[in-house]
Amino acid sequence: MESSTVMGAGTAVQDASLGEEIARRINELGAISEDADKLTRIYLSKELRAAADLILTWMREASMSAHLDAIGNVCGRYEGARPGAPCLMLGSHYDTVRDAGKWDGPLGVITAISCVADLNRRGKRLPFAIEVIGFADEEGVRFASTLLGSRAVAGTFDDSVLSARDRDGVSMRDALVQFGLDPDHIGAAARTRRELLAYLELHIEQGPVLEAQHLPVGVVTAIAGATRLAARLTGMAGHAGTVPMALRRDALAGAAECIGAIEQFCRTDEGGLVGTVGYIQARPGATNVIPGEVSFTIDMRAPTDMHRKLAVADVVRQIEAIAKRRQLALQLDVTHENRTAPCAPWLKAQIAEAIGAEGYRVFELPSGAGHDGMAMIDIADVAMIFVRCRGGISHHPDEHVELADADAGARVLLRVIENFRPREGHAGAG
Ligand code: GLV
Ligand code: MN
Ligand code: MN
Repeated sequence: MESSTVMGAGTAVQDASLGEEIARRINELGAISEDADKLTRIYLSKELRAAADLILTWMREASMSAHLDAIGNVCGRYEGARPGAPCLMLGSHYDTVRDAGKWDGPLGVITAISCVADLNRRGKRLPFAIEVIGFADEEGVRFASTLLGSRAVAGTFDDSVLSARDRDGVSMRDALVQFGLDPDHIGAAARTRRELLAYLELHIEQGPVLEAQHLPVGVVTAIAGATRLAARLTGMAGHAGTVPMALRRDALAGAAECIGAIEQFCRTDEGGLVGTVGYIQARPGATNVIPGEVSFTIDMRAPTDMHRKLAVADVVRQIEAIAKRRQLALQLDVTHENRTAPCAPWLKAQIAEAIGAEGYRVFELPSGAGHDGMAMIDIADVAMIFVRCRGGISHHPDEHVELADADAGARVLLRVIENFRPREGHAGAG
């Protein structure tokens, strides 16, 4: 599979050079961070803006028209042979979690741009347009609600999120204004089913399955649904030296019992249920004060929607019982609920064909992680290509993709694009 770099008019940039360009850009984008010693790039931060500008530059270098849309997504378009034709949309996200890896999200955006750049170098135009989109908020780190970028594009953005506040008390509305966007025009980011032939995303697997299969790429079957909740327990703050144990209403001890119950419940489930408490804050937060109020988040996922819903209901009952027994007031809100998104069989078939043509065994696997396709499915058929990552590690600075695997992913994506056949009957097909 290895070959040397070959560039020039009418010639594809061959194998390894796609991977090299992708890896170089991953590092360049990964250096744009709020923290000097770790990668954190959350929604509407000034670093997100700097990252957007870099991606816009790469898009324009690939002869795409490019702009920032009304919610902060970076959007590029490479016209087809007939200007104004419907598009095959490729994309992923360019925001990150806190102390993130460099590949989760950016790999899909950067690879798509490299594929377009390759077509452009060869002067190749297709019977449809290609659009590349870098979604501004997939992770939902800042305002608890996820998929804000892709929901805006799908026309399902919920305006009530505009009043959500971040940890510093800044509302999403104010953050948008500070970023230079108009919160009353988010509707302008919405696209229609007629404009999109399909939505296709390349992403790192974020799990160990492809590595165990000794495969660089795989075809995703479905993106598992997820429920996220915000819990607040209120007891009574007091003096750590004087209040007898039996008389305490310690909110943090109550939260600890809830967290233990969630873990135990998910551990004993044999059907792939997972539950995570990833954030907790105790107030007032002093060594010698009994915690009076605690906030924490819950993230729950399962292979089927029914399984997840039943599990969430069970966990909620357990938390209510713990709060009642400990005389703690409980507020529990669902901040995010996404159903499972199946990948379209006709798109999976085209990905499988490309993987086979590149000489790899075709292997299907589900996605336990969430992706923008969960929102895009409201206006387009969706599919995903997974790329192997080292040790299955993700949402961690050790996240890594070998250059050869980034390259394999790019070659598969390029093949899918060049051989893409719209679904019969699509308003924009033919
Ligand atoms: C997105 O990374 C998720 O939480 O699945
Ligand atoms: Mn991601
Ligand atoms: Mn992620």
